[in-house]
Amino acid sequence: MKQKKRFVAGNWKMNGSLAQNRDLLNALIETVKNAESDVVVFPPAIYIQQVATMVEGTNVKVGVQNISPEAKGAFTGEISLSMVNDFGCDYVLIGHSERRTLYGETNEDVAKKMQAVVDAKLTPVICVGETLEERESGRTEAVIKEQLTSVIDAIGIDAFNNAVIAYEPVWAIGTGKTATPEEADQVHDFIHCTLKVYDDNISDLVRVVYGGSVNASNVDSLFAKQNIDGALVGGASLEAEGFTKIALA
Ligand code: PGA
Repeated sequence: MKQKKRFVAGNWKMNGSLAQNRDLLNALIETVKNAESDVVVFPPAIYIQQVATMVEGTNVKVGVQNISPEAKGAFTGEISLSMVNDFGCDYVLIGHSERRTLYGETNEDVAKKMQAVVDAKLTPVICVGETLEERESGRTEAVIKEQLTSVIDAIGIDAFNNAVIAYEPVWAIGTGKTATPEEADQVHDFIHCTLKVYDDNISDLVRVVYGGSVNASNVDSLFAKQNIDGALVGGASLEAEGFTKIALA
C-alpha cells in the first residue's frame, strides 16, 4: 500500500471561547505552517466563522462536528451542509461515538449524513469503534464491520473514495487509555480488508486514522505503524504545544 499524506485533526468537542480559540489558533497557525500532514480543527459550530476567518490562507483547515442530512426546514437546532459551505468548511465529522451514544445516532443516520456530505462535495471523516464490553467479548471486528457495511450497503462504496475513517475505540476516548499501536494497526488492517471486499483499489484512497487519548508522548509509536495514517485528537488538541507535536510527528 502506498504511503499517504497524514491527516491530523483536533476535535474540540464542546470546548473553547472566542478568546481561547484566538490564542490557540494564533499559536497553531504559526507552529504547523510547514507541517507535511493535513491539519484540521473541528470547533463547535458557533465558532466556525471565527475559525474559518482566522485560518484563511494558512494550511489549517476547518471542519464541522455534526450536520443535519436535511437540506433545510423545520429542524430546530440543526445546521445544514449549505450553511456549513457558506463558511469554507472542508471536512465533516460523522458518527462520532459521543453522537452515537449520547444522541442515539444509528448506523442509518450515519449513512444519511455521509451521503449528504458526499453530495455537498465535502470530505467525510467517519468514526467507528467498539465499546469496552464489545472488545472484551471478542466482538470488535463484528462491530466495526457492521458500522462500515451498513453505510456501504446503504449508499455505495464510492462514497468512501475521498473519505477519512477514524477508528476510535470508545473505551480509549477521553480516558487516558490508548489502544496499543499493535491493537490499532490490527483494526485498521481489518477496516481496509472490509472495504476491499467492495472495491479492490479503495484502500489506496482512504486514510484510516486513530483516535482515543492520542497525545504528544504516544503519537510516535502509533504513527510508526503501517496502517495508521494520522490521528483524530480530542483533549490534546485544546493546547497548541501538544497538538503541534502531533501534527509535526
Ligand atoms: P480524546 O478524544 O483524544 O480526548 O480521547 C478523541 C475523540 O473523541 O475524537
